[in-house]
Parts: sequence; C-alpha cells; structure tokens
Amino acid sequence: MSSHPRPVGIVGVGMYVPPQVVTNKEFEKILDTSDEWIVSRTGIRERRRACQEIATSDLCLEAAVMALKDAGVVAEEVDLIIVGTLTPDYLFPATACIVQKRLGATRAAAFDLEAGCTGFVYGLTVGQQFIAAGMYRTVLVIGAEILSRVSNWADRSTCVLFGDGAGAVVLQAVPEGFGILSSTLGSDGDLEEVLIQPGGGARIPASLESVQQGLHTIHMRGSDVFKFAVRVMGEAALEAIEKAGLTKDQIDFLIPHQANNRIVEAALRRLDLPWEKVYLNLDRYGNMSAASVPVALYEALREGKIKQGDIVVLVAFGAGLTWAASVIRWWKEERR
Ligand code: ACO
Repeated sequence: MSSHPRPVGIVGVGMYVPPQVVTNKEFEKILDTSDEWIVSRTGIRERRRACQEIATSDLCLEAAVMALKDAGVVAEEVDLIIVGTLTPDYLFPATACIVQKRLGATRAAAFDLEAGCTGFVYGLTVGQQFIAAGMYRTVLVIGAEILSRVSNWADRSTCVLFGDGAGAVVLQAVPEGFGILSSTLGSDGDLEEVLIQPGGGARIPASLESVQQGLHTIHMRGSDVFKFAVRVMGEAALEAIEKAGLTKDQIDFLIPHQANNRIVEAALRRLDLPWEKVYLNLDRYGNMSAASVPVALYEALREGKIKQGDIVVLVAFGAGLTWAASVIRWWKEERR
C-alpha cells in the first residue's frame, strides 16, 4: 500500500481533441507510405491536427474546463496546475501559467513538466505528493501536445505516428484505501538521442541553418524506441503493482500510452492480461504523447469500462527516455 499519509485520487477527468481528422490515406498523397503499412505496423488509422491559430494552451484549457466541471470544482479552488508537454506554447513562460490565467485559477501555482510522452503520469505522481503532504487540496494535471508543429512531414517513419490533443484530471484527497496506491518513475538519459528535437534549445539555438536542417522537428530511431518500450511498459507496470502490495491478476484495467499496438500487445503478454482489459484509441488519435493516457482514461470512463473499486494501471514511456506507472483503486463520487 501507499506510504503517503493522505490518499489522493482522480476526482475529475476531461479531454479535448481538435476537429480536423487526418487519415492514413492523406499521407499516401505526400509520402511513400500506405494505409496498409501504417495500420499493420502501428494500429493507427487517423489522428487529429490542430489548425494554425490553435496553441497547446488552447487544448489544455478545453480539457481543464471539462475536468473541473466533472470534479465539481471551480477554478479559484485550484492550488496547482501542472502541464506535461513537449510542445509548449513557448520555451518560456510555462504553458501552465497561460492556462492559469485563462482559466481564472487565481490562487494556483503553475509549472510545466517535460518527460516526453510520460509527462502526464509523471505529473500525476508529482501532483499527488503536494496533496499527500498536506500542502495543497486541489491539483490540476494536464497532458497536452501539438505534435503536428514539430513533425517532419518528409519523414515517413515519424510524421504518420503523431496526433494533437489534451487530457486533464483533477486530484484531491479521497477516502482511505482508494486513489493512487503506488507509482514508479524512471529515466535513462543514455538514450537521449534515440528520440529528440535537437534544435531550438540552448545546445542548438534557433538559426537559419538549424531550421534549414530540420533540427526543430522530431528525430527518432524508431526500432530502438520500440525495443525499449516493449521491455519497459510491462516492467514498470509490474513494479508499481508490486509496490501497491498487489499481484498482476488483480489488475482490472490497463490504460497504456498509445504509441503502437504491438508495444501494448507486449505489455499485455507480460501482465497476462486479455485485450478486453486494455483501452486503445490510437487507431483514432495516433500517439498524442503526454495527452494519450488522460484521453484514454477519459474515454474508458465514459464507456463504463472502469467501475468503483477497480484496480487501474496507467503506464507510459517517452523521450528522455523516461517511463512511469501508477496503480489506482478507482474512487469517484458523483459531484456534477
Ligand atoms: N510507410 C512505409 N514504410 C515505412 C514507414 C511508413 N510510414 N516508416 C518506416 N518505413 C520503412 C522504413 O524506412 C524501413 O524500410 P527499409 O527496411 O527499407 O529501411 C522499414 O519500413 C522498416 O522500418 P522499421 O523502423 O524497422 O519499422 P518498424 O517495424 O520498427 O516500425 C515504427 C517503425 C512504427 C516507428 C516502430 O519502430 C515504433 O512504433 N517505434 C516506437 C515509436 C514510438 O513509440 N515513439 C514514441 C514516441 S514517445 C515521445 O516521447 C514522443
């Protein structure tokens, strides 16, 4: 069981994806690829793309408003906003501060958290600590991305994978025995170069040359990430389950990072879970990085896949490389 003095759980969930749908067929027109290749190698059929006028904070705002409403919480009650993203509006100020202002969360502290696709699960664990320690009552955790802005549209091995969207949760104290039972976080900086946006930071500042070389887009060694993910998803989930004092046969539902069907399949095998116990939406949204876990959680709840008291495992991996898993005994009172 958790060693935290105060149990913390998710009391509200929201999501937003932009309306524009980009199908695999549309990539066939601009790249040497096919719907058949993309579906069979990844499971992705379509993804959403934000229009040029929209920034990551806009997606955050939509998801956050929905999550607060779901929780029955007003913006003024929020003590802290954490935005997990690798596609912030700006390098600074933090996207979380823009959300804080636009939401009217007048009392809230705010910061961004960068752990690649693992950003939301990292954020969940960080937010939990503030409530468990008694410092804050209400924390808003958002995972949001506009990956279409950093995709290289000439690179068929990356641009077909990603989509835009946002998911948000509200954290508060919950009754004893419920909420986040355990978490595990990890990183391996040795693997920084297998998944990287090299340009635009302090190492390679923006210049005409850096832009011409496409250094401001995603560079990925897909098969290295694949091998890492296949190993780490199952391992991280198992570690968190053990930390919670549970065994894998007690898992009721798995919400994995939505990167690739074959990666999820490997995790299921490791956890001895059937496909009915996992939520998948990557066929509709592709890999939305930090947004993928909260959006999948929202949809699983909406479809009635998760019930009061269920043991739910969230697990993700991403740039860094990073990984994280959280085990939750689901608790939710009807507040709307
Ligand atoms: N269409 C057609 N062919 C393609 C495409 C495409 N869209 N993309 C790659 N190929 C080709 C390659 O060029 C290669 O051709 P070659 O053999 O002639 O060189 C061939 O397909 C096989 O390439 P692989 O990379 O070995 O293909 P693989 O089966 O590994 O699938 C994929 C590639 C889908 C990228 C897979 O490796 C994967 O899912 N990796 C994990 C990616 C991931 O999860 N990233 C997470 C990002 S997390 C974050 O923080 C953003």
